[in-house]
Amino acid sequence: MTLNADQPQETISRHIYGHFAEHLGRGVYDGLWTRDESGNTTIREDVAEALREIKIPNLRWPGGCFADYYFWKDGIGPREERPSIVNVLWGGVTEDNSVGTHEFLELVDVLDTEPIIVGNVGSGTVQEMAQWWEYVNHPGPSPMADWRKENGREDPWNVRYWGVGNESWGCGGHMRPEFYADQYRRFATFLHGYPNVRPFRIAAGAAGGDYNWTEVLMREAGDYMDGLDLHHYTIIGSWETEKGHATDFTEAEWFELLESTYQWEELLDGHIEIMDRYDPEKRIWLIIGEWGTWHEPEEGSTPGFLYQQQTLRDALSASTSLDIFHRYLDRVKMANIAQTVNVLQAMILTEGDQMILTPTYHVFDFYTVHHDATYLDFALDGGEYRFGNESLPAVTATASRNSEGRVHITLTNLDPNSARTIEIEVNGENVTGVSGRILSAGEINAHNTFEQPDTVSPAEFTGASVSDGNLTVELPAKSLVVLELSP
Ligand code: AHR
Repeated sequence: MTLNADQPQETISRHIYGHFAEHLGRGVYDGLWTRDESGNTTIREDVAEALREIKIPNLRWPGGCFADYYFWKDGIGPREERPSIVNVLWGGVTEDNSVGTHEFLELVDVLDTEPIIVGNVGSGTVQEMAQWWEYVNHPGPSPMADWRKENGREDPWNVRYWGVGNESWGCGGHMRPEFYADQYRRFATFLHGYPNVRPFRIAAGAAGGDYNWTEVLMREAGDYMDGLDLHHYTIIGSWETEKGHATDFTEAEWFELLESTYQWEELLDGHIEIMDRYDPEKRIWLIIGEWGTWHEPEEGSTPGFLYQQQTLRDALSASTSLDIFHRYLDRVKMANIAQTVNVLQAMILTEGDQMILTPTYHVFDFYTVHHDATYLDFALDGGEYRFGNESLPAVTATASRNSEGRVHITLTNLDPNSARTIEIEVNGENVTGVSGRILSAGEINAHNTFEQPDTVSPAEFTGASVSDGNLTVELPAKSLVVLELSP
């Protein structure tokens, strides 16, 4: 590896480490909040504390598909007067609306993060969405601001990130891109800036490799958007029949999932090439509003709740994805892994009063060093991880310099069988020492359980040394390492 510490690139937006919380399964109720029989909700302080540790920069809510079924007025005012609905999308359970706008924005304050609200285009009206925007953002007097004040909140929250529908090609209305582009223009028109906040308007982007969606949206509605929200999940197996299993898999499936993770390169190349043609100034953010691994639900759980375990494989898929996102920093400014607690590739799993951290949580912890840091140029050849007749780049990395001038390197070795020695020639930086942490485990399917919560957890890393200002890193098989260089 050659690290050119004297060749700073773009800033790594902290918003790339964003999160997503949908009214789905045990993500909201029994995840971020507990709820008693009267519908009173309490933010789980243990969960909040863990999320503050990894400095989550934003939280997207209320969906997902749920967003296009959600009527925000159901979720404000006295709890006992809020109507119950059926969450037809996710398990057909009763949604009593006890977490609504006030509760979500209170959580945002507790987490010291920024909200992203996704409005309802699929089954809602322009008036409803415009009134929601007014309710949370107008300082008053105004009809909606006055109502907010009656409900106990004097000051506006100044929510600037605003999604105009979700997956409008699918659960958000099965629209054609031409139709959605017109709907988007219409809905976005009525989100007005106020002196305290201007809207950052996010259009529903493509599913995976649907480049035509991006082409039409950019052509017909690009002038009216600030962000375009691409969604793509990493799966093996099939959406229609059966996806892969979260914890019971072979090396072939380890390889396959990581190979699928590399699809991000092709997807980002494709969508960004189109965006660059319509927006050469790169004004519009490509937002990866939903990403992560998606497996078959955990045995015994309600299938519609999307509860899955996670292993070291998911963690290394996450670090590889983040490394790829960083390579497109001039366009990719925000991303939201799905979903924060108890759903898909979560940071945290809960069971009653207990809580465990997933392997992916530790990746997000390691990568806090890159939040708003300057990406540094490097060249890396860590060899190939071969399986059968196929191969992948074995090692992936990110290097950055933070606001205090400290250089950090994260290195992932995807090869489950072989360690790698990485010699790092450091240009433009005086290095006298190095310290680090490692995430690894004995087995490819190692994971944390309520009985054994620390099977995959960080440890001090002693495999790096400095000689003549350059580094040698003994990177164990199937591991992620974060290094801090001392000047
Ligand atoms: O994250 C689960 C679901 O996946 C979301 O609701 C939807 O937007 C996507 O298809």
